Amino acid sequence: MKYDFTFYNPTRIHFGKNAMEHLPKELSLFGDSVLLLYGKGAIKRIGLYDEVIKVLGECGKKITELGGIKPNPTYSQVLEGARLVRENNVDLILAVGGGSVIDCAKAISVSAFADEDPWQKYWVDFKPLDGRVVPVASILTMVGTGSEMNGGSVITNEEVTVKEGRVFPPEVYPKFSILNPEYTYSVPKIQMVSGIFDIMSHLCEQYFSGEDDNTTDYLIEAVMKSLIKSSRIAINNPTDYEARSNIMWCATVALNTITGLSKTQDWEVHGIEHQLGAYTDCPHGLGLSVISMPYYRYIYKYGINKFVRFAKNVWDISDEGKSDEEIALSGIAELESFSKELGIPSTLRELGATEDMLEKIAYSVEEGGGYKKLTHAEIYDILKECY
Ligand code: NZQ
Ligand code: ZN
Repeated sequence: MKYDFTFYNPTRIHFGKNAMEHLPKELSLFGDSVLLLYGKGAIKRIGLYDEVIKVLGECGKKITELGGIKPNPTYSQVLEGARLVRENNVDLILAVGGGSVIDCAKAISVSAFADEDPWQKYWVDFKPLDGRVVPVASILTMVGTGSEMNGGSVITNEEVTVKEGRVFPPEVYPKFSILNPEYTYSVPKIQMVSGIFDIMSHLCEQYFSGEDDNTTDYLIEAVMKSLIKSSRIAINNPTDYEARSNIMWCATVALNTITGLSKTQDWEVHGIEHQLGAYTDCPHGLGLSVISMPYYRYIYKYGINKFVRFAKNVWDISDEGKSDEEIALSGIAELESFSKELGIPSTLRELGATEDMLEKIAYSVEEGGGYKKLTHAEIYDILKECY
């Protein structure tokens, strides 16, 4: 653990079938005005909306609702939420849904009382947080992003076709998050596998950087193995509680900062995918999977030891009679066949991209990377390869 770090994560997690029992006590810690934020209707279909409304009513809360938050939430919805917060003197923003709803809640939280245009301040200039932050909490229904226990807030500004992520400090993390794996049973398969690959990608982005021997990399390998095993069970039996609960916890651990401690990190696949999402609105994890394969095949040689380690420790590939190059490529091939097993499309075309978008996407991504800093031209080549 050669780089110094401070670890602090203030989110209280209530996990399991009875996690909702903790909601009244948690609500008692905040004032009476609650903004209830949710997506396009899933929580109504699974009966969760009625359950939450009932608890809020019993706790004497005044409820303001903002439903219809889009997957890949938009800045216009953030501004609408911020207005509702000001008009109703909201004390708590309760996000019930997936990463999009939680990300939107955090964005509303920091935007409601911002003294400048929030988009420019936080997602363009990346200025430090100041002003009043409205507390956020979450009830998670879709697994993948880790937003339930971190400061991430990824917002799409449709006016400028930019999808940008910002990681806010602990004041913006959810104060509490309720994680009941049973709420995820109804997630459509394509969203479930998108979430699974998102988790895998978060782990890869943190793993494929640096060469030092640190505990964090061993932790990442363990989470990857658990994720792979449970995902294989869950795609065949979506109501297997043990598998779904393992995946849920993998997601939280994979991006609550613990798997990134004392490490340099990559995040280039995410940078490219966010712009792909701005142009196509595709599910985040599917985009990550498509981009990952040509990306890792392009950069592995710059970090070959880590790719060999990945193949051996995560996929149990034998090194007998093989060169490092062959072992590293076998690990990437295993990752690719895992994605295929999940039923994830393998081309950008299938995700709604058109050829004319590729160059625009490539040149709107920031140049970066873990083992190799990519140029815009190299990003363009990678996009063409998976088109
Ligand atoms: O809109 P509703 O009706 O709620 O339906 C949603 C949505 O269509 C549905 N869904 C959620 N729970 C369900 C359900 N359907 C049936 N039953 C349930 N229990 O699933 C669809 C996708 O939901 P969404 O919240 O968009 O998915 P996800 O959790 O993957 O979030 C994606 C967003 O998070 C960002 C992504 O870029 C994307 O904008 N990310 C956030 C991160 C963070 N905060 O740290 C990091 C990630 O890398 C990521 O960038
Ligand atoms: Zn992600």
